Amino acid sequence: MYRTHNCGELRLANQGQKVTLSGWVQRLRNKGGVVWIDLRDRYGITQLVFEEGRSPAALLAAAKEVGREYVLQVTGTVVERYAKNPKMPTGDIEIRVEELTVLNKSAVPPFMIADETDGGEDLRMKYRYLDIRRNPVKNALLLRHRMLQETRAYLSGQGFIEVETPVLIKSTPEGARDFVVPSRMNPGEFYALPQSPQTFKQLLMVGGIDKYFQLVKCFRDEDLRADRQPEFTQIDCEMSFVEIEDIQQAFEGLIKHLFKQIKGITIDEVPVMTYADALAQYGSDKPDIRFGMKFVELHDVARGKGFKVFDSAELVVGICARGAAGYSRKQLDALTDFVKKPQIGAKGLVYIKYNAEGSFKSSVDKFYTREDLQAIAAKFNARPGDLMLVLSGEAAATRAALNELRLKMGDDLGLRDPNTYKVLWVVDFPLLEWDEETQRYHAMHHPFTSPKKEDMALLDTAPGKVRANAYDMVINGVEVGGGSIRIHDQETQSLMFKHLGFSEAEAKAQFGFLMQAFTYGAPPHGGIAFGFDRLCALFGGSDSIRDYIAFPKNNAGRDVMIDSPSPIAPAQLEELRIRLKNDND
Ligand code: AMO
Repeated sequence: MYRTHNCGELRLANQGQKVTLSGWVQRLRNKGGVVWIDLRDRYGITQLVFEEGRSPAALLAAAKEVGREYVLQVTGTVVERYAKNPKMPTGDIEIRVEELTVLNKSAVPPFMIADETDGGEDLRMKYRYLDIRRNPVKNALLLRHRMLQETRAYLSGQGFIEVETPVLIKSTPEGARDFVVPSRMNPGEFYALPQSPQTFKQLLMVGGIDKYFQLVKCFRDEDLRADRQPEFTQIDCEMSFVEIEDIQQAFEGLIKHLFKQIKGITIDEVPVMTYADALAQYGSDKPDIRFGMKFVELHDVARGKGFKVFDSAELVVGICARGAAGYSRKQLDALTDFVKKPQIGAKGLVYIKYNAEGSFKSSVDKFYTREDLQAIAAKFNARPGDLMLVLSGEAAATRAALNELRLKMGDDLGLRDPNTYKVLWVVDFPLLEWDEETQRYHAMHHPFTSPKKEDMALLDTAPGKVRANAYDMVINGVEVGGGSIRIHDQETQSLMFKHLGFSEAEAKAQFGFLMQAFTYGAPPHGGIAFGFDRLCALFGGSDSIRDYIAFPKNNAGRDVMIDSPSPIAPAQLEELRIRLKNDND
């Protein structure tokens, strides 16, 4: 037997017991006559002691030989510690070792296996199996496990059934590029890995499954960021005979359950905001509503005073940072530099300080009288002590830049407490989005999303104005999920394909199976998919989903541990009938 107990469970109550433990050497302290070893496994750390006079000389000598990360098995007696460590659950005891077996040696690890490590991201990813021995990574995987279990238990309890859909499929148009897999048996033809099981879950509704879910891997060949991986996991769901409110109710239930079970937090209400309001008030379709600082448009008070920048701008809009009038010149310059960064793209920043004693100081004092500034302050409902920050320019770009500034101010003023969670539905997304590059409309969510009935008439005249029965769930400014009520009749689906620029033949070739299914009594249906990795990161308090994925890829889409992607053998290429283009071709 390798062990009678794990390294996290022994207490004073076990004093006097003979036990066997197995684990890794976290640390060795050699004081000559006494050697202490911290032995670690998934459950914790237990201190071992070897002592001259009490331990045979050979055993003491053997203990001195072990190195970091050696795998040991020890048998000994649980004794009370002389110097207790209240920070460790096992800190009252130690094991007086009688037998020691080195189960395996270890090379010197390339970084410290400790909560705070000296290993950089690249090194940790290359030796991810060592990284996983560290508490922060192990705990992230434990959190993920609990989230998976709770999700399964909750949805199953609500009558959803988990159905697995295929991984080798045909391309699903969700807006990103597909990863493709060549077919040996069908030379020249390719499978695609699913960007989501979208069409399959709709076909399950046609199949009468009624309530489906799946914890499923999705694959998207897109630019990677902290919140995006080329393969990621969704909680994918679909329901029949539902309207938006049914979906919202069902999945608020899931999110509330997860918050309650995992974090002990009660989420009361989940407000609903339209896409149009989200953009106008926060400059983002995923607003962080942990704090206010809503956008205020200033046209009537800021224009016509001789300040050309505002007079000529499509939009003049600002935010009011409560209590920030004390910002120094240096801090304001830093804010200006921030908005002028190429990623943010503003040309400049106007500030108006409403000083505590009631005076104003602004970067545009030349153009505005005290009364003018008073009028602007009134628009903001500003009080003495507040700082108003104003941007201007082309509407969409200015809103996007002010969104970044608002989030930064939220951070600076400590308004984005990671332990506060605000859940929000954003609804009424546009159905279509104009794409400059291809000079045509794209489905903003996906082509199976239904338009709002009352907007259908606009499809021909003002396609960009048609609203969709689509919704996103946003938590603390993170888009954690999105879905829609689907089209379930063949005519509307054909019409949609037409508006997306598909010829009839193209629509048939790509989606004939779905259109055909719709002719056999497809029920009204709708659904949602949550980004599971994002949910885990949010619950765990991290910005990076990589921390919650056992073996993630880096920003170049590479797995640096297994060194993938990698070339394949010429014979394999031959078999697949693939000829690589070289520079001479
Ligand atoms: P959507 O494309 O909005 O919808 O994706 C749903 C959720 O998945 C997460 N997500 C990602 N997470 C990590 N890495 C990525 N590359 C990535 N891309 C998306 C986001 C997002 O909100 N089939 C539809 C759902 C439906 O209509 O039911 C879909 O996939 O959190």
